[in-house]
Amino acid sequence: MRTAIYPGSFDPITYGHLDIIHRAADVFDKVIVGILKNQAKSPLFDFDERVEMIQEVTKEYPNVEVVSFQGLLIDFTREQKADVIVRGIRAVSDFEYELMMAQTNKQLNPDVETMFLATSAKYSFLSSSTVRELAVFGGDISPFVPDYVREKICEKLEKRRG
Ligand code: COA
Repeated sequence: MRTAIYPGSFDPITYGHLDIIHRAADVFDKVIVGILKNQAKSPLFDFDERVEMIQEVTKEYPNVEVVSFQGLLIDFTREQKADVIVRGIRAVSDFEYELMMAQTNKQLNPDVETMFLATSAKYSFLSSSTVRELAVFGGDISPFVPDYVREKICEKLEKRRG
């Protein structure tokens, strides 16, 4: 049984993330989407909202689970009895940071491998903050997020505007 962790902030999840999740779900027996409770970023969605959204948009994949975590990724990987961390590489600019993270995690636990999937070219420019910014200024985000997520973003922004 091979279990992989796909970690990130997912604020919100985009088609770029889903591309990686779907492909990882075809390769591994189980994929755990790990949502980092990162206090450094000020989020649009709280963790429960992100868990719910990701569960909704991954429901056709029975081997995908969604869990939020705090602290070190490598500790979360151990807790979840996973042996692989999956990361998407969007462009060469991602590589240096990803390599550093993979090597640090390998040092912390040599039994855990990091595997990289090349993000599909059509999503290579995408990030959650791009989607948030587009939405705030009324841009069309439908090419970047599923309808369900787009509706949740619109609802959230409506509430914020009062
Ligand atoms: N498609 C679309 N967007 C993508 C993407 C993809 N395939 N891959 C990355 N992105 C986006 C993310 O949405 C994110 O956007 P944002 O900055 O606008 O929110 C950005 O690219 C950066 O992504 P990522 O590098 O995955 O950052 P993250 O904050 O989502 O996740 C962790 C980083 C959680 C993996 C990392 O901080 C971590 O492991 N932290 C735990 C603490 C720890 O163990 N530290 C030691 C590590 S050595």
